[in-house]
Amino acid sequence: MNAKERILQLRELLDHHNHLYYVLAQPEISDFEYDRLMQELRDLEEQHPEMADPGSPSQRVGSDTDSSFVQVKHMYPMLSLDNTYTREEIEDFDARVRKALPAKKIEYVCELKYDGVSISLIYENGKLVKAVTRGDGEKGDDVTANVRTIRSIPLTLKTGNYPAVFEIRGEIYLPHKGFEKMNEERAEAGEPLFANPRNAASGTLKIRNSSLVAKRPLDCFLYYLPAEYPGFATHFDSITAARDWGLKVPPYIRKCHSLPEIFDFIAYWDNNRDALPFDIDGIVVKVNAYRQQQLLGFTAKSPRWAIAYKFKAREAVTKLLSIDYQVGRTGAITPVANLEPVLLAGTTVKRASLHNADQIALLDVRLGDDVIIEKGGEIIPKITGVKTENRLPDSRPVEFITVCPECGTSLIRIAGEAKHYCPNEIGCPPQIKGKLLHFVGRKAMDIGCAEATVEQFYNHGLLKDPSDFYSLSKEKLIKLERFADKSADNLLKSIEDSKQVPFERVLYSIGIRYVGETVAKKLASHFRSVDELMAATTDDLIQVGEIGDVIASSVVDFFSNSVNRAFIEKLKTAGVQMSSEGKKRTSDKLAGKSFVISGVFKQHSRDEIQKLIEENGGRNLSSVSSNTDYVVAGDGMGPAKREKAAKLEIPVITEEEFMGMVGEGIKKPG
Ligand code: IVH
Repeated sequence: MNAKERILQLRELLDHHNHLYYVLAQPEISDFEYDRLMQELRDLEEQHPEMADPGSPSQRVGSDTDSSFVQVKHMYPMLSLDNTYTREEIEDFDARVRKALPAKKIEYVCELKYDGVSISLIYENGKLVKAVTRGDGEKGDDVTANVRTIRSIPLTLKTGNYPAVFEIRGEIYLPHKGFEKMNEERAEAGEPLFANPRNAASGTLKIRNSSLVAKRPLDCFLYYLPAEYPGFATHFDSITAARDWGLKVPPYIRKCHSLPEIFDFIAYWDNNRDALPFDIDGIVVKVNAYRQQQLLGFTAKSPRWAIAYKFKAREAVTKLLSIDYQVGRTGAITPVANLEPVLLAGTTVKRASLHNADQIALLDVRLGDDVIIEKGGEIIPKITGVKTENRLPDSRPVEFITVCPECGTSLIRIAGEAKHYCPNEIGCPPQIKGKLLHFVGRKAMDIGCAEATVEQFYNHGLLKDPSDFYSLSKEKLIKLERFADKSADNLLKSIEDSKQVPFERVLYSIGIRYVGETVAKKLASHFRSVDELMAATTDDLIQVGEIGDVIASSVVDFFSNSVNRAFIEKLKTAGVQMSSEGKKRTSDKLAGKSFVISGVFKQHSRDEIQKLIEENGGRNLSSVSSNTDYVVAGDGMGPAKREKAAKLEIPVITEEEFMGMVGEGIKKPG
């Protein structure tokens, strides 16, 4: 057999084992053997680039290139299903169907309603060519690159009698196990957790780097073939055929001929859904015969031949024993109820969220009350009501705490915000730990230090503020439990590397309230060094585009605090990048000059002009004032600005004149 034949043989073999493993969950060979075959295929494909095929089972790893999602129009609009919540509504649905199809025998198919993200797949000549999200129902995002990494979606179908071109729809979801693993990894990395598997699946599908998607254990069930001429008599036949072509069609499906059979199916899954390894939020009833579906047709929003029955959120009643108050990283206080343990949806619940003081007052929940708890899609259940009839006569409304349970500082409540805050940013332990974790985060200084390690350092008094990372030494580290020579070296290297992190990210890492990544970038390019930023007044700050009162005062407050200033000094001494000076600046031609740009330009975008101003040492301001040296005016500059500039006698220059100042000839079109 030559290499070419072996490649084709390996592809077929791997497709077969992939199907056994990911679609049928019945592997016949070991992981080791599978990996060995895959490696052989990869090696041969590398030696024979002329044999490249996007449908090859080796093409599942995704790519690092940023994939922006192009909008694609659906062949058939992606509609939703009407939701129902009661038996009566299912009876009404059945009555409507029978009325529209008098004297006909009706067969229904009952299926599970998978709680994920809907997807449309297009196969051409047995190859997956497109995967599109639902979007607005008319057009969705082309997420083919991401979907190709999902192992249970075949890139190449098994040989079979499939149409040359067809569409199949289904639901992409994350099984519970994969979801938990993903959240554990996020917790380790100090990243925010996903509230539930659906959010995690939808977030993952939107990642613009498919090689990252390939690492997440997404899965997919396919449940519907939309078609004008389906080539099958029934929906059931169509998905059974799709299963034979190698597609993952779920087995939880039943033909029903009467309402009692439908209700049985509903009751069965309402009772047993917790045993499934993925989330469902109801069941779907579909008229089976395609001919009957066509007679029933669609409303503007949904098919008349199908309906969803949504399960009720599971509730339980238990006693409220006490309330704890948790202090978050930003100082926000969250009341958490301690409950008498109760079984709910397969897990024992001991705690529930109470959100904030308003929520407690609204529910009028009191210690010792019998409370109703509900598990929705979120990780932690919530209290939704109180059985006031069981209330003890001497119960009193809850008095929300007035001081921080961690540091004793009086709490404040900012107008318009529901939460109470502990304002002791620099002395309150959970807030300090939060800042430390924020500092090491991937988007911040990217220091490879897990949450548990940060906690350990803090508890040993090694870290009081993030600048203390730079005073850690090998001697100090190896004295600690769980620290060996190698792990100490790795951490110290990672800390050393962080000294190269650019100023804009340092500014984000410092953890000034409201200074996120974008604001940090803006501030860093405007002020260029921490010293300049510290000297800025609220007015100076507001001059920077898109910086408003709240951010400006937050920055000024931060730097007016001597503890924070000492912290900044320590970072400087450690050698962390505290300025972008010398980084991008190409000349001093505009040094000391402030510009306001306005209108639309012919040869450059506003961003390009702003960049040129900064690169040549000038400053961008957002509004015309006596601090402005020049206004660069394009088409459509507002009359108010022009008037103000005239009044203050500020020169208004054209794009060409500006380019003359920075010594760049105007770009030639094209
Ligand atoms: S059939 C014309 N079957 O529920 C509608 N949908 O609100 C055809 N879903 O957008 C959809 N499980 O994302 C169908 N077994 C199932 C389903 C299902 C979940 C989702 C789907 C749809 C939404 C309807």
